[in-house]
Amino acid sequence: MHLKTLSFALLSLISAGRAHESSQYPYVPNDLQCAEGSLPTFVHNSYMYIAPLDKFTNITGSFFNIAWEGGCPATVTTGTDNVPGVTRGGPCLGGTFNDTLTMYSAHPDALHTRTTGPRTHDSRPRSICGGQATYVDFISYICSKDQIATYTGWSELHVVSMQAIAGAIGAPILAGDCPGA
Ligand SMILES: *[C@@H]1O[C@H](CO)[C@@H](O)[C@H](O)[C@H]1NC(C)=O
Ligand SMILES: *[C@@H]1O[C@H](CO)[C@@H](O)[C@H](O)[C@H]1NC(C)=O
Repeated sequence: MHLKTLSFALLSLISAGRAHESSQYPYVPNDLQCAEGSLPTFVHNSYMYIAPLDKFTNITGSFFNIAWEGGCPATVTTGTDNVPGVTRGGPCLGGTFNDTLTMYSAHPDALHTRTTGPRTHDSRPRSICGGQATYVDFISYICSKDQIATYTGWSELHVVSMQAIAGAIGAPILAGDCPGA
């Protein structure tokens, strides 16, 4: 890498760091501490599709709209969509859920969101292959009494949700090589 490019890259890292520290919403610790009697489960799934990033963020980019996740819709929200600190919630599978948006970092080539409720969930769609394809990964951290059921349930939900989106926008799976390279 050219020295000038490198120092520019470092400078933008530093200023990005400052911007994050001064954001209005306080940093929420990443590492999960579970209450007595429950254990953490980490579910990490990743996907690559041949379709531009905005096809995905168009569907997944609203904190208040979680219909694409195949679970329970949010019936109660507080605050302005996509502003860290706002909440979404409602009834779900005989109980209730209440998530807080704790990070919303949007860039032309990436969107990183984190929600915290009973489950902490990172969603990170990114543009790859010069804008022709998208890499998406989800990391869910959850405390539960049944780690196997928790892992299987969330992993399947991620897979089914992404298959549904890819089907809806007609995005083929990217096997590895960028198209048209
Ligand atoms: C976003 O989705 C809407 C319909 O859900 C569609 O009309 C619009 O073209 C989409 N925009 C992009 C950039 O894909
Ligand atoms: C979620 O929690 C927030 C903050 O405590 C509250 O304002 C909001 O009404 C709750 N939402 C639901 C659906 O319980």
